[in-house]
Amino acid sequence: MAKDHPTFSSNFYQLCCFLFVFSALTPMSFVYWSRCFAPCKTESAIALPKQNQTFDLLAYPSAWNHLSFSPGPPPRLLKIALFVKRWPRRSLAGGLERHALTLHLALARRGHEIHVFTTSSSSAFPDYPDAKIKFHATPPSPAGYLNQALAWERFRVQNTTGKPFDMIHTESVGLLHGRARNLSHLAVSWHGIAYETIHSDIVQDLLRGPQEPRPSVFTERVAKVVDEVKFFRDYAHHVATSDHVGDVLKRIYMIPEERVHIIVNGVDEETYKPDAASGREFRRKVGVPDSATLVVGLAGRLVKDKGHPLMFEALKQVFMENASFQRNVYVLVAGDGPWGNRYRELGPNLLVLGPLEQKQLASFYNSLDVFINPTLRAQGLDHTFIEAMLSGVSVMGTRFASITGSLIVGPEIGYTFLPTVDSLKKSLHRILGDGRGVLAKKGEVARNRALQLFTAAKMAAAYERLFLCISKGAEVKDNNDYCKYPLPRDRWR
Ligand SMILES: *[C@@H]1O[C@H](CO)[C@@H](O)[C@H](O)[C@H]1NC(C)=O
Ligand SMILES: *[C@@H]1O[C@H](CO)[C@@H](O)[C@H](O)[C@H]1NC(C)=O
Ligand SMILES: *[C@@H]1O[C@H](CO)[C@@H](O)[C@H](O)[C@H]1NC(C)=O
Ligand SMILES: *[C@@H]1O[C@H](CO)[C@@H](O)[C@H](O)[C@H]1NC(C)=O
Repeated sequence: MAKDHPTFSSNFYQLCCFLFVFSALTPMSFVYWSRCFAPCKTESAIALPKQNQTFDLLAYPSAWNHLSFSPGPPPRLLKIALFVKRWPRRSLAGGLERHALTLHLALARRGHEIHVFTTSSSSAFPDYPDAKIKFHATPPSPAGYLNQALAWERFRVQNTTGKPFDMIHTESVGLLHGRARNLSHLAVSWHGIAYETIHSDIVQDLLRGPQEPRPSVFTERVAKVVDEVKFFRDYAHHVATSDHVGDVLKRIYMIPEERVHIIVNGVDEETYKPDAASGREFRRKVGVPDSATLVVGLAGRLVKDKGHPLMFEALKQVFMENASFQRNVYVLVAGDGPWGNRYRELGPNLLVLGPLEQKQLASFYNSLDVFINPTLRAQGLDHTFIEAMLSGVSVMGTRFASITGSLIVGPEIGYTFLPTVDSLKKSLHRILGDGRGVLAKKGEVARNRALQLFTAAKMAAAYERLFLCISKGAEVKDNNDYCKYPLPRDRWR
């Protein structure tokens, strides 16, 4: 299957980019430009100003992934402190830990000096021979969090004995707001905020069985949002990992716009890429016959809040109602959890594979015609969509704002459904109706979008620029203000 770059254009895109050029001459240019991005997103997102006019990066309203930063070596090497509850030891870590690993490994490989303040555990920290990463582990607090007093003392020693830190980065509340207060060289990345969770609460309550009691968290959630609104402002800079969360932080959490920056997660583009041969081999290995019409994949923890009861019910009904679907569609389920065994009940074309290591997971994606993530958790941004997209696979996901606003932005990339059995069944019928050719085409568009916006390199370049900007000092040396974009060193398209 050729997964090369398609060209994508629309009249709207041309009109909007045309408008941009003219609007650049007026004070309204910013408004026009940010509007421009919505329709431009799919391909040239990346509509850069045609003039050489620069703007203030900290006030940039869209995802920094749309900008093109210099791929060259960093102009200044930073000493960065990272506060993260846990450092991942296995490849199946959760989103926040994966983000910490992917980002800081990339920054360290670019030459920055990374100090990780995290909790100790029984297994040793991995060795990264090509990266300057130093671990400072402390025993966890009784509740299992990063012990703030101990970690901060380690930080202080590092800050006074060696070169002082240029920048502090915390993954969520790794560093609590009490300590973060008044630190200007600090950025926090949010992976799931309470406001987003309200949408999940509503969805899960609607799916609750008549005998199940409503969980108490349901009524506590709004109070939690109010708490967050109050303490979030103590952090100097905020990184939203989806466009939606950026909007919520500015509008509902009322954080000043120049302190909220959107950088959508990236994943390792060297690991997740199209490889038709390894996909074919994977299919054969797990027992998908060549005659299969479609291969559909699910991955992750096979638990209730990831939407597996819903997926199970939708597949069961579709199979019952349509024998051709049951015969010809193969469903590969990667991952672990209570719903693994339930899926096996659906018959021989449901192949439950168990948890996969990263390399196998990459082949798994390549074996698929479409990847489905039926998650009911709206928090953060699921890496699996991006992994599938980078592999050149079309994606299907729940209609949560972070997913539709940043990843599955239109039907040219994939499918979205409401978290109901009926809506999910409709989407399943649609993929079968569309067939392999249409899915492959969508997979190509998905791949191009992910390659332009959601690679680890892209994410690291954006964070590096943010850190250079916030930590200042650099402009003294080479006359560049890293809070401005573009600089002569940035890549123009
Ligand atoms: C504007 O940018 C172009 C291309 O990046 C460059 O060749 C040109 O010299 C710049 N002009 C000015 C006035 O800076
Ligand atoms: C780190 O050390 C520098 C230089 O002594 C000092 O200015 C800075 O306030 C220290 N940072 C923190 C967070 O204590
Ligand atoms: C932070 O700064 C504010 C105002 O400058 C000051 O009142 C407050 O005591 C400071 N808090 C800490 C924890 O240093
Ligand atoms: C089964 O699904 C396929 C594809 O959606 C459709 O073409 C076919 O008519 C369906 N058959 C029945 C019996 O509903």
